[in-house]
Amino acid sequence: MNSLTLPPLRTAAGSVRLPGSKSISNRMLLLAALAEGTTEIRDLLDSDDTRVMLAALRKVGVGVSALGGSVWRIEGCGGIFSVKDADLFMGNAGTAIRPLTAALALSGGHYRLSGVPRMHERPIGDLVDGLLQIGADVRYTGNPGFPPLAIHPASVKLAAPIRLRGDVSSQFLTALLMALPLTGEEAVIEMTTELISKPYVEITLNLMEHFGVEVRRDGWQRFTIAAGQRYSSPGVLHVEGDASAASYFLAAGAIGGGPVRVEGVGHSSIQGDVRFADALQAMGARIEWGEQHIEARAPMSGKLKAFDLDLNHIPDAAMTLAVAALFADGRCVLRNVASWRVKETDRIAAMATELRKLGATVEEGTDFIAVSPAPTLVSAAAIDTYDDHRIAMCFSLAALGGVPVTINDPQCVNKTFPDYFDALAEITAPVIAIDGPSASGKGTVAERVAAALGYHYLDSGSLYRLTALAAVRTAVSLDDEPGVAALAASLPASFEGGRILLAEHDVTDDIRSEEISVGASKVAALPAVRAALLARQRAYRRFPGLVADGRDMGSVVFPSAAAKVFLTASAEVRAERRHKQLIAKGMPANMHALLQDLQERDARDAQRSVAPLRQCDDADLVDTTPMSIDAAVAAVMTIVKRQL
Ligand code: DC
Repeated sequence: MNSLTLPPLRTAAGSVRLPGSKSISNRMLLLAALAEGTTEIRDLLDSDDTRVMLAALRKVGVGVSALGGSVWRIEGCGGIFSVKDADLFMGNAGTAIRPLTAALALSGGHYRLSGVPRMHERPIGDLVDGLLQIGADVRYTGNPGFPPLAIHPASVKLAAPIRLRGDVSSQFLTALLMALPLTGEEAVIEMTTELISKPYVEITLNLMEHFGVEVRRDGWQRFTIAAGQRYSSPGVLHVEGDASAASYFLAAGAIGGGPVRVEGVGHSSIQGDVRFADALQAMGARIEWGEQHIEARAPMSGKLKAFDLDLNHIPDAAMTLAVAALFADGRCVLRNVASWRVKETDRIAAMATELRKLGATVEEGTDFIAVSPAPTLVSAAAIDTYDDHRIAMCFSLAALGGVPVTINDPQCVNKTFPDYFDALAEITAPVIAIDGPSASGKGTVAERVAAALGYHYLDSGSLYRLTALAAVRTAVSLDDEPGVAALAASLPASFEGGRILLAEHDVTDDIRSEEISVGASKVAALPAVRAALLARQRAYRRFPGLVADGRDMGSVVFPSAAAKVFLTASAEVRAERRHKQLIAKGMPANMHALLQDLQERDARDAQRSVAPLRQCDDADLVDTTPMSIDAAVAAVMTIVKRQL
C-alpha cells in the first residue's frame, strides 16, 4: 500500500492496549543474551526493530525461541558469542546497532554491521571513539563516523576513564554501559559534553540492575562499573507498554474529547516518555494516572493552550506535541530537540515541511521548532513519512481536525507498531450504532447504510447466534456461563461476502433457526459471554467507519458512536416480517408462535441485568412499523448525515 487516506475524524474515545516498548525490548534482548542463564521475556514488541535484534542474536549463536503470544526464551551465552564471524544487517534500528557494536567489539570475533542507506547516514563516531580508547578494533568500511562497520578481535584495556560525548545520542552511552561488564574490569565513563535524552539512560541502568549489574552514577557526568560484575538472568521479565506510542493516543484524547486510556504504562513506568502526559497537561488536557494506565481528555473548556517547553527529556514523544500544536490557541515552541536531526530522518526539517502542508507557520532552528497553527487545517494534505514511523503516527492525528489526511507509505509504522492504524481506528473511526429489537429490520437497514457510506458492517447479533450454535454443537449447556463464555472468547467465526462461517462451515442459515434464535437470546443474558465478545466487537471499528447493529451498540460497545439510532416496529409487524422471510426460504412458520416467541425474546432482552435492550438517551428513534425498507434506510441516512 502506498498511501492511506484517513477520513475526517472528530472524536477520540476508548482504550488502547499498547505494544511492548521498543527501548525496553531491545535492551532486554541483548542483556538476556549476554547473561548467564535462560531468560523468559513476556510482552516483547513484535516489530521491524526487534526482529533485527533477534536475527542478529541468532546469527552470533544465541539461542532464541518464540514460545508464542509475545513470549520469548533467550539462552544467555554468558558474554561469549559462539559464532565468531558474521555479517549482521541492522535495518534502521539504532537500538540494535549501537549496543551490538559495543558488545561485539568486546567479544573477540570478526563481525560486519550494516543497515539501510539511512542507517549509513546516522552517526556512530562518538561510540567508536569510546571503543577505540580501550583498544577495541572497530573500523569504518564506508564513511568515517558512520556505519557500515567492521569489528575484529583485540585486547581491550581499561586503564583510564573512557571519555565520551553525549550530545548527539544517548545510545552511545547506553551501548558502552551495557557492554563494559563483559570485560570484568572496573570501567569508568566520563562525559565530555552535556548528556541528552537522560531518561533513556535511566532505562538502561534500571534494566542492567535487573540483570545484576550496578552502575555508580555521579550526576550525569561520570559512570562507574565495579570490577567483577557479571550479568545473570533474573528468570522471567515483562516488557512495559511503549510510552512513546502512548503519546499518539493520549494526544488523540486531548484533541478529540476523550477519555482515551492507554493500558500498559502508568505511574511505575521506567520510561521517560510517560512525561509526555505532563506536557499535554501543560496544554490544558486533563490527565489521570493509574499504576498501569494513563488517561487523557480535552480541556474542561476551550482549546488546548500554546506552550514553550524544553523537550530534551522526551525527544520522540515531542514529535507528537508538534502535531498537537496544530490544535493549540497560539504559537508553540519545542526547544532543545537537536537530536531530531540524526534520527530516522532529519526530523526537524521533515516536521517543518509536513506541518506547513497543514497550514501551520513553522520556524525551525538547529535545535528548536516553533509551530503557529492556522485557524483551520488544510484539507486533504498528503503527508510524506521519510521512512520514519513516528512521522506517520503523529501526523495521523491531524485528521482529528475534521479533515481527510493522506499518509504516504503508512507501512513505515512497522518499525515499532505494525497495528498502529487499527489501534487508532478503534478509538477514532466513526461508528453508526443501530440498536433495536429482533426483526425490526435493523440488519437490512444497517447493511444498506454501511454500503451507502462505504463503511464496514457488524451484525453483532450473529456473534451471539454463533455462540449459541457452537454451544449446541459441542453439547455445552446454555446455562453453563463459564463454558459458553469460553466458547465465545475463541469463536472460530469469520464473515465472507455475506456468508457466515463457523470453523470453515457455512452456518449462515443455521444460525437463523428458531432454536438458535432462542438460544442466542439466552446466552446473551450471561454477563461473562457479553464480556467475552466485547473486544471482538470493538475490533470491527476500522477506517473509514463502521455501522454496527445489535442491542447495546450505542450503550456499551460503542458509547461514543457518532450517530445512534434505535430502530423498532410493533411486535405484530415484526412477526409478520419474520413470517414472510421464513416462508420465502421454504421454512415452516406459524404467525402465532412467532409473535409469542418475539415477545418472550423482547422481554428477556429488555429485562436482563447486563446491557438490557433500551433506547439510549442520545439515540434517535425510528419506528419502522409503517415504513418500507427503503423508507427506513432513508430515515436512518438523514440522521447519519446530520450527525456526521
Ligand atoms: O439481532 P439478532 O436477533 O440477530 O440477535 C440475536 C440475539 O442476540 C438476540 O436475542 C439479542 C442478542 N443480542 C444482544 O444481546 N446484543 C447484541 N448487541 C446483539 C444481539
